This record gives sequence, structure tokens and C-alpha cells, in this order.
Amino acid sequence: MNKKLIVLGVIVLTLIITMAVAPSKEMTAVAAPAAEKSVFDAKTANSYAKGKKAAYLSGIHMKAGTVENCEGCHSSSVIDDSEKDINAKCESCHGSLADMAKTTEGEVNPHSSHLGTMNCTTCHTGHTPSKSYCLNCHEFDMNISAGGKVKTEWYEDLSKYANAKPVRVEKTDIVVVGTGATGFTAAITALSKGKKVIMLEKMPIVGGNSQLAAGGMNAAGTRFQKAKKIPDNADVMFNDTMKGGKNINNPDLVRILADQSSKSIEWLASINAELGFIAMGGGATYPRFHGPTSGDFVGPFLSAKLRERVVRDGADVRVNSKVVKLVTNAQGDVTGVLVKGKHSGIYQIDAKAVILASGGFGANNKLVASYRPDAKGVQTSNQPGTQGDGIVLGTSVGAATVDMKEIQLNPTMLVGSPVIVSEIVRGAGGIFVNRDGKRFISELTTRDVTTAAIRKQKGASCFIVFDDTVRKNVKQTGAFFQLGKVKQGKSLDELAKELSIPADALKATVARFNTMVEKGKDEDFGRHNFAQKIQGPNFYAIEVKPAIHYCMGGLKIDEKARVINTSGKVIKGLYAGGEVTGGVHGANRLGGNSISETITFGRIAGEQAASLK
Ligand SMILES: Cc1cc2nc3c(=O)[nH]c(=O)nc-3n(C[C@H](O)[C@H](O)[C@H](O)COP(=O)(O)OP(=O)(O)OC[C@H]3O[C@@H](n4cnc5c(N)ncnc54)[C@H](O)[C@@H]3O)c2cc1C
Ligand code: HEC
Ligand code: HEC
Ligand code: HEC
Ligand code: HEC
Repeated sequence: MNKKLIVLGVIVLTLIITMAVAPSKEMTAVAAPAAEKSVFDAKTANSYAKGKKAAYLSGIHMKAGTVENCEGCHSSSVIDDSEKDINAKCESCHGSLADMAKTTEGEVNPHSSHLGTMNCTTCHTGHTPSKSYCLNCHEFDMNISAGGKVKTEWYEDLSKYANAKPVRVEKTDIVVVGTGATGFTAAITALSKGKKVIMLEKMPIVGGNSQLAAGGMNAAGTRFQKAKKIPDNADVMFNDTMKGGKNINNPDLVRILADQSSKSIEWLASINAELGFIAMGGGATYPRFHGPTSGDFVGPFLSAKLRERVVRDGADVRVNSKVVKLVTNAQGDVTGVLVKGKHSGIYQIDAKAVILASGGFGANNKLVASYRPDAKGVQTSNQPGTQGDGIVLGTSVGAATVDMKEIQLNPTMLVGSPVIVSEIVRGAGGIFVNRDGKRFISELTTRDVTTAAIRKQKGASCFIVFDDTVRKNVKQTGAFFQLGKVKQGKSLDELAKELSIPADALKATVARFNTMVEKGKDEDFGRHNFAQKIQGPNFYAIEVKPAIHYCMGGLKIDEKARVINTSGKVIKGLYAGGEVTGGVHGANRLGGNSISETITFGRIAGEQAASLK
């Protein structure tokens, strides 16, 4: 077919559509200053049908004739921020994500991952270079059709919206900012009280850091512990948490965390998310680390269950929707939010209450380094949207903050993928080796000492060397192989070559280590516990380095999850829970306590916000 004819056809068709899909009554009723401008006027259509924009996915489809015109991908002239219409079109031709997953099976499948279901347009964009969302966190060799190598910048300075004017105003009962476990739990709780809830998520996918949690959730006195005769109770959990936090925690909040933890496990069971598997966690007197009964990772499991429930119960969940400002009245009470929608621009939602469930700031290195200069330039395990927006939003309406400089680093994150390498790998027999092929520390010492030691090595990283027994005994090693992050050799010579480190040094290090295992004494670094000698038949190594993992500090809240201002008063209409708040963990968080916090304080925030008069 003649090219000119196609373009003409597109223009004519889009004109017809534009006229047919005039803005609905509802839209005009609430429309404030600028009315929605159709994106399908002839001029726009033309600019999207040829030239630079046509080089991307839309152009590929249109040139091949697989999509005839703009309406093949756009069902209306108004593009909703969640891009639901467009994705329905992709799916109508290509099938669902699960269908796609069958065509791209492999070790690493872009269409099937721990992130669960998401929009096609999270990765495949229409008019810009596509980019796989996985590459925000992993260094995969993952090409995508019409793809580009541009790096996404997720940080944005929210102060520029201080005087922004909304193009329209909506109304609801409760706005929840963020779709991690805290936000979902708060939303489900408020919905159960008959409230209307809008959930806003700035990223193209839901889930936050919560969805990445691999371990478990701490709870004391649960029926699952009782069934195993574990004599744990809320008082012991309270004491462990205070001790772990070096006693600077807010004891009132810790009391709630401990007392409510068993109820939170029951609440999860009531929404079909049973955590019946129990393990021992760091800093705990008894096993209280609860994971899915199936043995799966806790984050993806909870996220999927919470999402399912929130949708069933009728929340309006919007992705690509960033809260950029809190709206206040003359008394300083919070009365709503300003949202920047990816397509719809800046709009306002008036609400009786706003719940900040926006997470921490671990991925905002500038902010982290302002509190902990030694963490400057250190990588993070956090999802890239973890930029501390909630801190900015809260403090801009007068909120107080606590413990901001308390930031947790984990000594061993896999280089190239944000997988926190568990101590179990070393405990089962792995050793640290630096680029000179030498050990430099006891592998089983505390996290802060380990972090400092690794950062002093060449390249500010090191290797964990292990063999087949460790591979077999530690389940987590499977992920390292699956991610392609393991270097290996049939001999230490081969492994050293793979790692580009001196083979003689590596062989001497392993030989000396093995003699010390026989003697049962680490004469070099005082490691107190040896599982086994390192003896092959295969030798493996992964590269690890410290990472910024968790922000203990944040907005100050009271026992009702109400945000407190700098004069110690409640800010009416504003609630917060989860990693955006401070006080629960003091100077150091115990593993498993933050998921526990999200469910417990999410429930409280949802309940309190729903009962606000
Ligand atoms: C790799 C990893 C493993 C972990 N493992 C464990 C574990 O085993 N056990 C445990 O207890 N804890 C673990 N943690 C910690 C725990 O997962 C988090 O601290 C917790 O889930 C935080 O939950 P949240 O709901 O407060 O915030 P998040 O889950 O981070 O959710 C916040 C959401 O708000 C969104 N948001 C931010 N700003 C805005 C804005 N302006 N507008 C709209 N949306 C916004 C974010 O994009 C995000 O989706 C782990 C953390 C990581 C990173
Ligand atoms: C009207 C049907 C239709 C719609 C709508 C549609 N596609 Fe396609 N698409 C096709 C056909 C047919 C092909 C060519 C055969 C194939 O690769 O499956 C194709 C090809 C592709 C390709 C491979 C391109 C290449 O370089 O070979 C990708 C990626 C893709 N589509 C993604 C999408 C996404 C994402 C959407 C929604 C934004 C979408 N498609 C909408 C029919 C459609
Ligand atoms: C997390 C990112 C991501 C998401 C979400 C995603 N894709 Fe893909 N898609 C990719 C990558 C990467 C490739 C290239 C993979 C390959 O070549 O094996 C790809 C390849 C494709 C192809 C090329 C054909 C093929 O079989 O190789 C099509 C068609 C496609 N995707 C359609 C879709 C549709 C439809 C959706 C939504 C239901 C979707 N994708 C969601 C990342 C994604
Ligand atoms: C293969 C599917 C596809 C086709 C065909 C397509 N679009 Fe899009 N369009 C998208 C997607 C996906 C988005 C969401 C933003 C993005 O991913 O780039 C989008 C977004 C837009 C936007 C919002 C602004 C922007 O650039 O993000 C406009 C305007 C638009 N499309 C116009 C058009 C016009 C005009 C045509 C016909 C010439 C067209 N589109 C054809 C997939 C398509
Ligand atoms: C926000 C950061 C992030 C993104 C985006 C991300 N991952 Fe991961 N990935 C992780 C973390 C963290 C782990 C470690 C396990 C955990 O904590 O869930 C992991 C583990 C994995 C593993 C090892 C075993 C497993 O399945 O858990 C694979 C494979 C993987 N990711 C593939 C993907 C693919 C494919 C994508 C894109 C669809 C993706 N990841 C996107 C953070 C991310």
C-alpha cells in the first residue's frame, strides 16, 4: 500500500475517533482550568506516524501492518495513567503475560518473575525506546525489541510542585500513597470499614520493597509457634527488638509491634495469606521468622495475596501516579494530595484522610550520604522508587522526623543483582577471598565489621568461595546460578583464572583454611565455627559487596499511626506506617521486623483513618 495513503487514512480515522470520543460528562463536570486535549488530532497523529517516533514499537506494528492505525493500540483519546486500555489491546493480540511467558521460557524469563503480573507497557513502550524493567535492578544481557540503553532516572525533586495547579479535582474517603505491604494492608482495612479508597503508586508496577523481601515476618505467640512448642511471647519479642535497636527505639511503638504481631499473622491468614513456616532469625531468642507455608519467598507471596484482595474489595489502584504534594487547609490539616499522572498531568484528590505508606529512601544515595557520609556511592538492595518522597511530603506540612541517620547496610549483596547473600552461605562453609587471593576477616563476624573490612579491599568488593557441598546444602545458592552470577572451575587454578586473581595465592589460602578446619582453630582471623573443608569437586565464587538495605529513621508517629509535627501535635488527616516512619527499630532493625511492622501499622493506619470524624 502507498505510504501516503496510510498516513492519510490514519489522519481521517483519528479525526473520526476524536469526534466520537468527546470527553465524557463526568470529566467535564470536574474539569478545572485546562480541558483534556485530545492526543489524536491530525497533527499529533501525523507526528506519531512518521519521523523519529515511528521508529519504536508503534511504528514497527504500523509499518508491518499488524496494527492498522492508532486505534489498534488506543481505544480512546484519553490515555489513563495506568495504561489499562492500551494493555488490553496488547493482550487481545498477544495474550496475557502468562501466555507470553510460555514463548520466552529460559533461566531468566522477562515475562515470568518474582514481580508477578504487570503491564506490558512497563517494558514495551509505544513511542520511546523500550527497556526491560528488570534492568533497574539486575545486570542481565536482556535485549528487547525497539529497545534502548537509556538509564531511567527515578529521582525527582518534589519542591518544584510547591505551587503547581491541578487540572481537575476528584474526591474520595481515603488516599493511600504507595503500594507496598503497608499501603495494601491499610487499604484493605479501610475498605472493610466501608470507605472508598484510592491507592497511588508512582512506579509502573506495584509492590515496593515489600515485594522483594525474601526472608520472613517476625511474630510472637502465634498458633504456628505453639504447634511446635516454641515458648515465645510478646514480651520476649519486645525485649529482643529493644536490644537489637540499642534501646533507642520508641518503646510504645515496639510494644504494639510485639503485642499485635500474632494478630497480624491471623489477619493475613484471614485474607488467604498463611505464614505457617517458622525459622530462626538474627537477634531473636526463639524461632519467630514466619514465611509462607509453601516455603516460597515472603515478599512476592504477600504482595500477590494483598493485591488480589485489594482489587476484590474495590480499591482504585493507579500506577504511574506520583503524589507530589500534600494539600492542607488553613488550620494545617491534610485534606488531600496533588498527583502527577504519567498522562493525565497534575490533578488533586480531596480526601478525609491521607495515609503515607511510601517506604524509605535507601535508593536516594544523596540523601543517605547526607546522614551517613560513609555510605556515599554504596549500591542498594532497594527498588529504584525508594527515594524518600514520603519524608519530603511529610516534613513539608510540618512533620517531625526521628533517627534519620540510622541507616542499615548489609555487608554482602551480590554484585549485579540486588540479592542479599545470607550469612548461611558462609556458615555452611563459604570463605571470603579478596583480589589478592587471600582471606581478610572471620566470615562469621558482625555485619558492621564485615562491611568495613570488605570496603577496604581492592575494588571495594570480595568473593565468597565455596564448593559443591555448600551448593547442595544452601537453597539460596540456586538463585546465584539462575542469575548467572557464579564463576566456577574444576580446580582452584581454573577458578582463579575465571576471577583474574593469582592462582598460587588462592590455592595457598584454601590449603591453609583446610588445615585450620582439621585443627578446629582459625589462627588467622578467629572464625569460631567451621562447617567443612573446601574440597570440590567443583569450586565456585560469587562477587559480593556491601549495600544500603534499610532506613530505620523516618516520620514521627504515635500509637495510632498519626503523624506528629515538630511541636509534638497530631497533624489531622495524616497517617503513616512502614518504612517511611521512624521509631520502631531504633538504631538497628532485626531481620523480619519490618514486614511485621508493615502489616501491624498498616492495619492501625487503615483503621484509624477510617474512623476519623
Ligand atoms: C531485597 C530486600 C529484602 C528484604 N527482606 C526482608 C525480610 O525478609 N523481612 C523483613 O521483615 N523485611 C525485609 N526487607 C525490608 C522490607 O521489605 C521493607 O522495609 C518493607 O517492605 C517496607 O514496606 P513499606 O510498605 O513501608 O514500603 P514499600 O514496600 O517500599 O512500598 C512503598 C511504595 O511507595 C511508593 N512511593 C514512594 N513515593 C511515592 C510517591 N511520591 N507517590 C506514590 N507512590 C510512592 C514506592 O514506589 C513503593 O512502591 C527487605 C528489603 C529488601 C529491599
Ligand atoms: C492488532 C494486534 C496487535 C496489537 C494490538 C499489538 N500487537 Fe504486537 N504484534 C502483533 C503482530 C501480529 C506482531 C508480529 C508477530 C509477532 O512477533 O508476534 C507483533 C509484534 C510485536 C513485538 C515484536 C516486534 C519485533 O521487533 O519483531 C512486540 C515486542 C510486540 N508486538 C509487543 C506489543 C505490545 C507491547 C503491544 C501493546 C502496546 C502490542 N504488541 C500490540 C500484533 C499486535
Ligand atoms: C519485564 C519486562 C517485560 C514485560 C512486562 C513484558 N515484556 Fe515482552 N519482552 C520483554 C523482553 C526483554 C523481550 C525479549 C525477550 C526475548 O527475546 O526472549 C520481550 C519479548 C516480547 C515479544 C517478542 C516475541 C517473542 O516471543 O520473543 C512480544 C510479542 C512481547 N514481548 C509481548 C509482550 C506482551 C504482550 C506483554 C504484556 C502481556 C509483555 N511482552 C510484557 C520484556 C517484557
Ligand atoms: C503498538 C501500539 C501503539 C500504537 C500502534 C500507537 N501507540 Fe500511542 N502509545 C502506545 C503506548 C504503549 C503508549 C504509552 C506511552 C509509551 O509507552 O510510550 C502510548 C502513548 C501515546 C501518547 C501519549 C504521549 C506519549 O508519547 O507517551 C500519544 C499522544 C499517542 N500514544 C499517540 C499515538 C498515535 C497518534 C498513534 C498513531 C499514529 C499511536 N499512538 C499508535 C502504544 C501505541
Ligand atoms: C526492584 C528490583 C528488582 C527488579 C526490578 C527485578 N528483580 Fe529479580 N530479584 C530482585 C531481588 C531483590 C532478588 C532476590 C530474591 C528476592 O529478594 O526476592 C531477585 C531475584 C531474582 C532471580 C533469582 C531467583 C528468583 O526467581 O527469585 C531471578 C531469576 C530474577 N530475580 C529475575 C528477574 C526478572 C526476570 C526481572 C524482570 C521481570 C526481575 N528479576 C526484576 C530484585 C529485582
